[in-house]
Amino acid sequence: MANQEDKFKKVVSHAKEYGYVFQSSEIYDGLSAVYDYAQNGVELKKNIRDYWWKAMVQMHDNIVGLDAAIFMHPTTWKASGHVDAFNDPLIDNKDSKKRYRADVLIEDYVGKLDTKIEKEVAKAAKRFGDSFDKEQFLATNPRVVGYKEKGDAILQRMGKSLENEDLADVKALIEELEIGCPLSGSKNWTDVKQFNLMFGTKLGASADTAMDLYLRPETAQGIFVNFLNVQKTGRMKIPFGIAQTGKAFRNEIVARQFIFRMREFEQMEMQFFVRPGTQKEWYEQWKETRLKWHLSLGLGKDNYRFHDHDKLAHYADAAADIEFRFPFGFKELEGIHSRTDFDLKAHQEHSGKKLQYFDPEINERYVPYVVETSIGLDRMFLAVFSNSLQEEELENGTTRTVLKLPAVLAPTKAAILPLVKKDGLPEVAKKIVEDLKWDFNVTYDEKDAVGRRYRRQDANGTPFCITVDHDTLNDDSVTIRHRDTMEQQRVKISEVKALIKEEVDVKNWLMKM
Ligand code: GAP
Repeated sequence: MANQEDKFKKVVSHAKEYGYVFQSSEIYDGLSAVYDYAQNGVELKKNIRDYWWKAMVQMHDNIVGLDAAIFMHPTTWKASGHVDAFNDPLIDNKDSKKRYRADVLIEDYVGKLDTKIEKEVAKAAKRFGDSFDKEQFLATNPRVVGYKEKGDAILQRMGKSLENEDLADVKALIEELEIGCPLSGSKNWTDVKQFNLMFGTKLGASADTAMDLYLRPETAQGIFVNFLNVQKTGRMKIPFGIAQTGKAFRNEIVARQFIFRMREFEQMEMQFFVRPGTQKEWYEQWKETRLKWHLSLGLGKDNYRFHDHDKLAHYADAAADIEFRFPFGFKELEGIHSRTDFDLKAHQEHSGKKLQYFDPEINERYVPYVVETSIGLDRMFLAVFSNSLQEEELENGTTRTVLKLPAVLAPTKAAILPLVKKDGLPEVAKKIVEDLKWDFNVTYDEKDAVGRRYRRQDANGTPFCITVDHDTLNDDSVTIRHRDTMEQQRVKISEVKALIKEEVDVKNWLMKM
């Protein structure tokens, strides 16, 4: 595919054309940064959620689930710091009238330096062939070192300015770097201002007595306020975790980022409660465990990297992102945060209720420390979907569009295709559908030549096509075509279920962790 922008456009249009993601309220021209998941999208999203839940809850004796309400008592957000500190630094371009996040403009500038480094590496790798030592090249090539030092210095200065609320310096940095409006190129900027990202709403029927509420901007706080309830009723012993998936809402300033940054999105979060002083070990352990979970899906080791934060959120003593190579470059996919005892202590103070744990092993009562893993489900969807969408040149000179979704996540596991619409083949095919649908999502397709049907299923991401032909009537066998290799295999109908199960079973995928 030609370049990053083309690839991204292709991802967005494929997601629509094949019933994965639609713009919200499209008949009214849509709603900015809000999307709907269509018939295939909803299955892919559910499968990703299940894959996470199995790995995090079912496979850990000491992690349990929770489904807290989206509405929470408003003091929650005062205690958590969101009312005072959940802000983005915004800047307006006076000519184009477009609004941007000042930190994103600066990060994108640094991202371009990273792209230059990648290009230098690719050029050198070609020049030196097998003898190329990437690490040494990164550490010694003057141009690359220069780009890296420049990028680091910019990010460090921005981090410091944001931490000190020195918004004038953030604007000065944008001007010094001569960053223009991405749309118009204009460098005519307003001052940088802070903007709170929470959506407000009201609870109650009468205007006088209605209570101001917020739509939750993260699911984590539902876990913190339930910490003691779960610990006591579940008789949980530290270390233990509480996991939940659910909607979160942020009034993001965004432009054309599809489901990467949305105003309504879903998070999959886990708060792991530990003894104070052990948080660093658990932080390292969860970084490793979460990366392994990602790698188990086989999207390619080189597409992930850690980014350790210089600028820490108000609640953290260490934080890192797992970044993924999206079509528009490496960006945050998941955050792992060592949140100290900030949240529980804050809720303790604001509620007047003790949120402590008695540790029988050391005979002490304390407010636990927390290590959090937090991943956006929609962002994970985009990572999987964009990585899987490929255009392949075939030996006969044609190209095929294929969505190589990990089989465990694919919305439809198999398509059952009678070779022709007569001679009793549809009846046999439908019988196979009836049998398989108890175990997997399967589909029946009899329209068009079989080659076209294969291509349709390739583009849809279906890992297996099962073709019923005239021989089937005699030998009770079918042809299974594998999406990724296009290999065809003759198997007994009675063996089909086991073959598919082997390939789509969550256990077999998670065992790769
Ligand atoms: N509880 C911690 C927390 O919410 P975060 O880094 O703000 O941390 C965690 O968010 C993850 O949620 C991110 O890594 C990202 O995957 C996802 N996320 C955050 N904002 C998002 C948005 N506007 N649209 C889609 N996903 C988002």
